[in-house]
Amino acid sequence: MQDSYKRTIDYVRIAVTDRCNLRCFYCMPAEGIPYEPKKHLLSYEEITRLLTVLGDLGFRKVRFTGGEPFLRKDFMQLLENTAGLAAYDSIHITSNGTLLQKHITRLKALGITKINLSIDSLDSERFHKITRRNDFEKVMQTFHLLVNNGFKVKLNAVIMKGINTQDIIPLAALAKEHPVDVRFIEEMPFNGGYKENVEMYSARDIYADLKAHYPSMEKLPSTHGDTASLLHVPGYKGNIGVIAAFTRSFCNTCNRLRISSKGDIKSCLYDDGVFNIRDYMRSGVTNEELADKFREIVRLKPKDGFEAEALRTNKSEALQSMSSIGG
Ligand code: GTP
Ligand code: 5AD
Ligand code: SF4
Repeated sequence: MQDSYKRTIDYVRIAVTDRCNLRCFYCMPAEGIPYEPKKHLLSYEEITRLLTVLGDLGFRKVRFTGGEPFLRKDFMQLLENTAGLAAYDSIHITSNGTLLQKHITRLKALGITKINLSIDSLDSERFHKITRRNDFEKVMQTFHLLVNNGFKVKLNAVIMKGINTQDIIPLAALAKEHPVDVRFIEEMPFNGGYKENVEMYSARDIYADLKAHYPSMEKLPSTHGDTASLLHVPGYKGNIGVIAAFTRSFCNTCNRLRISSKGDIKSCLYDDGVFNIRDYMRSGVTNEELADKFREIVRLKPKDGFEAEALRTNKSEALQSMSSIGG
């Protein structure tokens, strides 16, 4: 499906829960966010139905996010159902890595090997300070287990001024020994109301730090729909990426739709939800009606994150948490 800017929209991100067992301060307040009751969540049957309709409309990539997706009961069952849908070339997961170790064998058997892990620091104390939980060792163990089992791992680190800029080079060095993409992310203002003013450490700042340390690093050609600008250091097994999530420099190749755990569709990360597909589905519509609704949403997709932001009726992004948006 093409939107009105001739972008092919074929990637859907589905948040399976708004719950998380970490409390990363750039994402939510220490006390957490008010969680949705279970009956408000899309059921697995409803998610599978939406994926079937989207697959018929040409969607080829699906990413499950949360909150933490492995917190939702029987998440592996949803993955199994999705693996049975022929339309999707690849199934991806974004996870905090605390709960997935015991599922590695089954994931591999299902051919689900593309996992993005959030790791914001290689220093256990800093990790604790950022996530407000003491799970550093477990997450690093997950990282190594995934890499050793041949998974295609991308590591996500949100970089914040005065907090973890000193982690940029040590984290980037993981790409020396391991075939992983280490991606540094600009902080966005979706933090559940924890703090209003984000002091920016921009993609440009991150790039400058990397360039100073790795003068020989090269820019790789950009892949369509990729959020990250990728860099390569000669001799490294993996790549380094910078994601200008706040500067929004990749909107012109945007290929995605988001569906929150309660069925709110975002046609851009920066809009405040354009339609609730759960209520529409529960009103008894047919698959063709669902498909028409998706066509309309894609047709109206804003040009970029700035336009989406300007069109918001609820102006305060900071009151939303990435845990409920789905990353
Ligand atoms: P790949 O599919 O592996 O390229 O990952 P991804 O970047 O699409 O997904 P991931 O869940 O790993 O997100 C990494 C970071 O990019 C997070 O901070 C996201 O919020 C941010 N991000 C993902 N999609 C968008 C988007 O459409 N717009 C903006 N501004 N940021 C995004
Ligand atoms: N700004 C930027 N990235 C964020 N993430 C969560 N909250 C924010 C934020 N406020 C990232 C997580 C995860 C990804 C899905 O989104 O680190 O890797
Ligand atoms: Fe959880 Fe991810 Fe939010 Fe951290 S960023 S609190 S891991 S949902």
